[in-house]
Order: sequence, then structure tokens, then C-alpha cells
Amino acid sequence: MSHRLGTPLSPSATRILFLGAGELGKEVIIELQRLGVETIACDRYANAPGMQVAHRSHILDMMDAVALREIIERERPDLIVPEIEAIATDELARIEADGLARVIPTARATQLTMDREGIRRLAAETLGLNTSPYAFASSLAELMQAAEQIGYPVFIKPVMSSSGKGQSLVATAEEMTTAWDHALEAGRGRKVRVIVEGAIDFDYEITLLTVRSLKTTSFCEPVGHVQQQGDYVESWQPQAMAPAARATAQDMARRVTDNIGGLGVFGVELFVKGETVWFSEVSPRPHDTGLVTLATQDQSEFALHARAILGLPVDTRLTRPGASAVIYGGIDAAGVAFEGVDDALETEGTQLRLFGKPRAYEKRRMGVAIAHGETIDMARHRARSAAAKIRIVEV
Ligand SMILES: Nc1ncnc2c1ncn2[C@@H]1O[C@H](COP(=O)(O)OP(=O)(O)OP(=O)(O)O)[C@@H](O)[C@H]1O
Ligand SMILES: [Mg+2]
Repeated sequence: MSHRLGTPLSPSATRILFLGAGELGKEVIIELQRLGVETIACDRYANAPGMQVAHRSHILDMMDAVALREIIERERPDLIVPEIEAIATDELARIEADGLARVIPTARATQLTMDREGIRRLAAETLGLNTSPYAFASSLAELMQAAEQIGYPVFIKPVMSSSGKGQSLVATAEEMTTAWDHALEAGRGRKVRVIVEGAIDFDYEITLLTVRSLKTTSFCEPVGHVQQQGDYVESWQPQAMAPAARATAQDMARRVTDNIGGLGVFGVELFVKGETVWFSEVSPRPHDTGLVTLATQDQSEFALHARAILGLPVDTRLTRPGASAVIYGGIDAAGVAFEGVDDALETEGTQLRLFGKPRAYEKRRMGVAIAHGETIDMARHRARSAAAKIRIVEV
């Protein structure tokens, strides 16, 4: 793309189509709107967060190759920005190969990261990065054998899943049947295959937001986070690191993102103990734990993504420490309201993002509280207490 932006809804428009229009896509779309980019949001359901801020939207099953191709041919976007993993990625590769549109960061990236086997083998076997010990299994018997070899405790994860779905931490062989059934259920009859990983006893885990812009690769300050059942509940930035661990983390992130190529933000997930770093996985897009950058950076990860994919200069510097705390649905309800917003915002240095999801589930992320502070502790306290003040009620 040349360094020229058009006028939306006119023949000169620069058009970007989003596959997946959740809260992360919504923030990227807002950044693109500010630059006068024409935005098109796609998701499986009506009124998804990103649809509410895009120029127009489409409802489709993004795993359906025919429907996907049809939308792309109709919309003729300059760029396709995948926001989720569950997409007909082989069709994306054909769309890219046919020169119909450019996929962010690349169609190959979406193929590699959609399947844990693809990205794990690339990182560990091709690039030689340090990872947890692992094996893949397509039956319960294979799984049992792999776990014996690796040694308990182990994590079991469907190769195609995200946000902790179908994941189990298994301490003994007796629990394995339950873990296998749980993984299959989450895989929804897709691929009967799991990864078995030795559990890493880390001091802390980080997301290293890595930005590939036209000119260079740059890194945000590391984001520390806490996960519960494979889903993030709290994050903060910067996470302090031993200098050697920081250097290793950046080196790993550079190697994996150089191999993947393309432009944009990557969330490189790493485990750290002292000076030892393990590569876990990478998202070729902004990362949920990076919501904290809305409070800490002049250019949030969403602004960075928007700028990088357009071939514009980026600045990853942190301006102040901050934290984020997730607001869960807490109830299953179609149509909810948020109470306590005024109380939550009384907390100094605090912002809210309420995603506008049309229905709530107990474990669905409905919003996030974000705060800055003089210290990480202060910011975490502010974000947590603001999130705790929000009550979600059925209406
Ligand atoms: N081998 C491991 N050793 C220790 N902890 C692990 C291991 N694998 C996963 N975890 C824990 O579980 C969390 C979720 O794992 P992982 O990122 O692989 O799942 P996911 O479904 O891809 O989640 P998400 O989509 O939210 O990134 C990790 O952030 C970490 O806290
Ligand atoms: Mg993860």
C-alpha cells in the first residue's frame, strides 16, 4: 500500500475488513476511523462490539470458505484483519495468493497460529526456542503414554481452541479420561487432537507486544498478567524483568515474528523464571492482556496495530505504569445493564471500557477497568477496585 489514505465511502477509500469484531477489533476500528479508513466488521452474530463502530458489517460463519470468499469479493478490501483464530484460513491463503486482498500479518500466520501444532513445531523445532516439553495425541491411549513420558503434572489443550476452552491441568493418570473428554467437547468434533505440555513452574508470565512496522521491529514494555482457567483476569505494565530474561524474551519474540513476517502487532506469550524464558504461544494481532496499554502508552496496542498495518511509523514507548482488571458477566442474560459506573469512575486515574456485547454469560468478558498509577501496585489496586464496583444486572 502506498503512503496515501483515501476518503471513506468514496472511490478513493482505504478499506479494511475485520474477521471477528470483538472488543479488541472494536478498539482497532476506532483508531482506523480516526484516520479516515473505511471499516467493515464481520462476526457470527449481530451487534458485535466492532460492528457498532464500523462503517458497515456482515454476519457470517467465518469458518465457511464459500461465505468468506463471497464477502471478500463483494467488499474488495485493501486489507483483511483477522481478530479471531477460528477462520477458514486455507481460503484466506487462496484469497491472498489470488491477490484479492492482503491478510494481516500474513495468511500463513493465521494458518500457523490457528493450530497449536503449527506454531509449537515452528517455535521449538524450526527455530529452536525453549518451550515446555510437549507431545501431540489423537487418542486417549496416546495421550496417557505421552503424559507418562513428559511427567505429571501436564496441561492438556485441544490443538484448535483459545481462551482456555477445553484445557485441563492434570496431576495424575486417573484424571486423564475426564481431561480427554473435556478437550473433545471443546473441539466440537473438529480435530480430535490435543497437545500435552509439561507444566512450567514459572515466577511470572508476560505478553511481549511486538510490533512489525515497515521500518523495524519494536517492543512494548512487558505486560505481566494473571490467568484463571486459561483466561486473563488482570494485567499490568511494565512487568519488571531480570536484564538477561528481558533480552532473551525480545530475542525469542524477534525470531518468531521475523519468521511469521507481515505487518502489525503480535502478542508473544512467555513464561519466566529467574533468567530462564519459555516461549508459550503467539497471537498475530493485539492481545487481550494488552488492553492495559490504553492507560500506559501514548499509542495503545490498538493504535500501534492500526499504524503498523497501514505502513505508518509507530512509537511503543510507555508513558506511565498501569493495570487492567476484567469485568465478567457474572450472569447469563440476554440484555444487561451496568450499575455502579459512577462509583467505579470516582477512583482516580481510572477508565472503563464496556464492550456493548448484546448478551452476557457468567464467564463472558463484558468490560474492563483500566487505571494508571505511580506504581504497579497502585494501578492494580485502582483497576481491581473499579472493576469490583460494576454490577451487571438483567433487564
Ligand atoms: N505448559 C504450561 N505450564 C504452565 N502454565 C501453563 C502452561 N500452559 C498454559 N499455562 C497457563 O494457562 C494459560 C493459558 O494457556 P494458553 O495460552 O496456552 O491457552 P489459550 O487457550 O491459548 O489461552 P488464550 O487464548 O487466552 O491465550 C497460560 O497463560 C498459563 O497461565
Ligand atoms: Mg495464551
